[in-house]
Amino acid sequence: MISLIRFPDAQSVFEEAAERWIRIASQAVAESGSFSVALSGGSTPRSLYELLASAPYRDQVDWEKTHVFWGDERRVARDDEQSNYRMAYESLLSHVPIPGSQIHPIDGMGLSSGIVRDYDDAMWKHFRYERGGWPRFDLMLLGMGEDGHVASIFPGTRTVSDLSSRVIVYQVPQLGVERITLSLPVINHARNILIMVAGESKAAALYEVLHGEAQPSRYPAQAVSPVDGELVWLVDQAAAANLPPE
Ligand code: 6PG
Repeated sequence: MISLIRFPDAQSVFEEAAERWIRIASQAVAESGSFSVALSGGSTPRSLYELLASAPYRDQVDWEKTHVFWGDERRVARDDEQSNYRMAYESLLSHVPIPGSQIHPIDGMGLSSGIVRDYDDAMWKHFRYERGGWPRFDLMLLGMGEDGHVASIFPGTRTVSDLSSRVIVYQVPQLGVERITLSLPVINHARNILIMVAGESKAAALYEVLHGEAQPSRYPAQAVSPVDGELVWLVDQAAAANLPPE
């Protein structure tokens, strides 16, 4: 199921995302005893993390049963200011009682083959998916770039068409650096996908993604489509400016 909800401002987007995180986590813990989430980088997700680290949200999550992964990472050390791990640690993880063993960062500094092996292994140890199967996150958190990228699946790159990998390390031509990303099949196997989009700079891409012609290589967010789960777009009015009226 796919839906889009518009909010008057970005803060309302973050509040809705926090409330959904709490509901999804509570349901996951009740059903399976744990809650798994893949975090996104970016300034929009950061605002959500800061909210979750504060009252009243902080105390509504069972952090002892929460497992945190990342949807993508930069090719940097964990203490680098570009690191998605560092951003999430500073804005959320250092403020909540999540056991360190339940934080599963992507190693941005290793050899590509080792990064893929180790992160694949970390996911397999948690999800225990069948050989050839897919990890199934309870919650996949995504932002969207002005070019329609999600995680580190960038336009015109092989990541858009790679339907066999789980973890991809590759040189992003637009950035001139390597990125590490979960693949679209892993993203699409999540039970719940939340894409948070805020600000007028995203309005053009959001229109193309949702109402433009189907061209996922140009707008990778078009390829986000849950296999057996729910996708909810949480957007503010500024980002929704070009969308047809509700
Ligand atoms: C990253 C993110 C990336 C981000 C979008 C939106 O590592 O940068 O994973 O996909 O979510 O670029 O970022 P903003 O919310 O900062 O625009």
